[in-house]
Amino acid sequence: MSSTRTLIQGGLVITAADEIHADVLIEDGRVAAIAAHGSAVADSWTADRTVDAANRYVIPGGVDVHTHMELPFGGTFASDTFETGTRAAAWGGTTTIVDFAVQSVGHSAREGLDAWHAKADGNCAIDYAFHMILSDVNSSSLREMDRLVEEGVTSFKLFMAYPGVFYSDDGQILRAMQRSAGNGGLIMMHAENGIAIDVLVEQALAEGRTDPRYHGEVRKALLEAEATHRAIQLARVAGAPLYVVHVSAEEALAELVVARDKGLPVFGETCPQYLFLSTDNLAEPGFEGAKYVCSTPLRPKEHHAALWRGLRTNDLQVVSTDHCPFCFTGQKDLGRGDFSKIPNGLPGVENRMDLLHQAVIDGHITRRRWIEIACATPARMFGLYPKKGTIAPGADADIVIYDPHAEQTLGVETQHMNVDYSAYEGRSVTGQVETVLSRGEAIIDRREFTGRIGHGQYTPRGTCQYLG
Ligand code: URP
Ligand code: ZN
Ligand code: ZN
Ligand code: ZN
Repeated sequence: MSSTRTLIQGGLVITAADEIHADVLIEDGRVAAIAAHGSAVADSWTADRTVDAANRYVIPGGVDVHTHMELPFGGTFASDTFETGTRAAAWGGTTTIVDFAVQSVGHSAREGLDAWHAKADGNCAIDYAFHMILSDVNSSSLREMDRLVEEGVTSFKLFMAYPGVFYSDDGQILRAMQRSAGNGGLIMMHAENGIAIDVLVEQALAEGRTDPRYHGEVRKALLEAEATHRAIQLARVAGAPLYVVHVSAEEALAELVVARDKGLPVFGETCPQYLFLSTDNLAEPGFEGAKYVCSTPLRPKEHHAALWRGLRTNDLQVVSTDHCPFCFTGQKDLGRGDFSKIPNGLPGVENRMDLLHQAVIDGHITRRRWIEIACATPARMFGLYPKKGTIAPGADADIVIYDPHAEQTLGVETQHMNVDYSAYEGRSVTGQVETVLSRGEAIIDRREFTGRIGHGQYTPRGTCQYLG
């Protein structure tokens, strides 16, 4: 921890609530005070180090609440470790991740959590927390949920997809929701009808439709919408709140809108890939489409406008990455001749803040909404606010100096994620991270990595801050 005083001077400080030309004083790793630039108060401050932020934005570090470092999937492991993945996150202006610890079938949730701590502890460049994937909902894992919530693992992902792997049936889902209604946990749902999808997969393969693009065709938007609808009704029966992860289809979003218009505590997340990529990418020739295989799948680009609208109207509250990278060579390869064997997931933890800033430039969202969906709301949704997600006295000094005028081209040559391709290769964006502070320490300093593996601290979470 730094015991020095740092002053960030002359930038435009943007939070979910405000935009002000202000100086930010940091002491002992936390924001000590904010005062209008040029005011008598700000001019009276002295510091050991001054960061010039003129013509830059001063924004909270990004909070990415959906990552899968080292996830075992499809006979292989996501290619970013906690070390490489959190370093890449820092480069992209993200200072907190919430990763998914996995309970495996036949094992306890505790074992899964211990295994994730063993992977992450001492290896992270930024702060981190965990959700728990429950793959085996039974009487003992239901009991374990209460203890996990008390310990700061306050959210649980369930899968209506992937039968035989992560899948829970409706009875298991209902029981987990009932438990969360009692213990304050938040159920996160992968909403796709996996049983029906598996029938369509089998039929496609039997008919010789084996290319990556069929991954998108069998995982139908209607089957995302159906599962979303079912999850919402089960949550209502249980009296539990619900957070639907990686919403990609307009029809699924429509189910969230109906629920929210009834005033139900139903929340939704989408990811950059569903806003910027489409089935056109899945259809790229020569197996290139495998680079874009993830679940829920990419949709036709006609869905983009609905998702942007949902983000503007707050029917979707969060943009996270679902960062789950697999190399094209040696991993995505496993599915040549059978799309169902392509490991599911896309790299993106480094790209989220920039892509969403481009969305500001393109007029989809405002600057403050950018910070709201990428920093403040994810922190509130998962019990990390105001320690994370804002710039305010007492908050951790997780702060990004962002150059809104810098031009950059995204691609594998310049990225830091441990994967051999970029899903955004050649895409030009305006805006770039310049300096990143994590609890007051510069971990990126004028586009040089100055952080340290092991700097990142495990951060137990409170419960969802949108519930009474
Ligand atoms: O394709 C994806 N999203 N892989 C990661 C696992 C999940 O379902 O989030
Ligand atoms: Zn075991
Ligand atoms: Zn999922
Ligand atoms: Zn995921």
